[in-house]
Amino acid sequence: MSKSLNTSASESEQTVAQVIDTIAATTPDVRHAVAEYRGQSNSVNPSGDDQLAADLRADELFEQRLLDIDGVATYASEERADVETTDGRLHVAMDPLDGSSNLEPNSGMGTIFGVYSERPPTAGTNLLASGFVIYGPITSMVVARNDQVREYILEDGDKRLVDDDVTLPEEPTVFGFGGGVDSWTDDFESVAEEIRYELKLRYGGAMVADINQVLTYGGVFSYPELQSRPEGKLRHQFEGHPMAYIVESAGGRSSDGAQSLLETAPDELHSRTPLYLGNADLIDRIESTVN
Ligand code: AHG
Ligand code: MN
Ligand code: MN
Repeated sequence: MSKSLNTSASESEQTVAQVIDTIAATTPDVRHAVAEYRGQSNSVNPSGDDQLAADLRADELFEQRLLDIDGVATYASEERADVETTDGRLHVAMDPLDGSSNLEPNSGMGTIFGVYSERPPTAGTNLLASGFVIYGPITSMVVARNDQVREYILEDGDKRLVDDDVTLPEEPTVFGFGGGVDSWTDDFESVAEEIRYELKLRYGGAMVADINQVLTYGGVFSYPELQSRPEGKLRHQFEGHPMAYIVESAGGRSSDGAQSLLETAPDELHSRTPLYLGNADLIDRIESTVN
């Protein structure tokens, strides 16, 4: 590798580390926002979802802090129509508050992020790192980077490593499928019916927490293609890619129903995708049924 390529690779590594630390450092303020900004905002995001005041506050906090990092060129988010740009080499795409409908019943919520080498909308193969935070009984963070997945506990925004090699257990235990039986296609319903008898249901309305169940216990999470909405619900760039990168780095598989989600790119910044994430055998089985 030439000297300049070497330098730019190590600059990118540094920027990735700064992004991860900055997101960790912002989490106490996001927890505060979740407690303080509990109402509606009377606005709608580019996906057509009502935005809570907490969605907007979390988005604003991450945008300000991440664009302050020298190497970060853009900030893209589920909560804003356009990509915010400045100078830099790397690009961050986020779901600032995942599972915000859980705010009212005080259930788990999170933050999802991906760091890309190309400006979104872009393919999952351009991810350099991704991760998520869970605002649960404790605040934890899972980060995938250089083929390794690490889990941290966050205390006052500082990371404490608790697992330096998160790997999906070989034996699957849990499943969580979004969308509801009435809205599924016949093919998905048939394989879901089999899995229902093999694994335990874990579905909480926030993919961060449901996917962390899969990382912990093994299994499968899906928000599939729906009869009335073949594109499913979840956002390709902000939710799909980062989570696919984590699950694949932890030894599992991702799919959009036909191929690895990482091999695909969203048509537009806010496009949705069906997704299937978890132990490889289960994803192979679902793929061969729905495809
Ligand atoms: P968001 O709050 O960012 O819109 O995301 C919610 C997502 C995802 O986290 C979760 O798995 C799914 O929507 C839940 O949808 P249902 O309420 O349809 O189950
Ligand atoms: Mn979300
Ligand atoms: Mn969200």
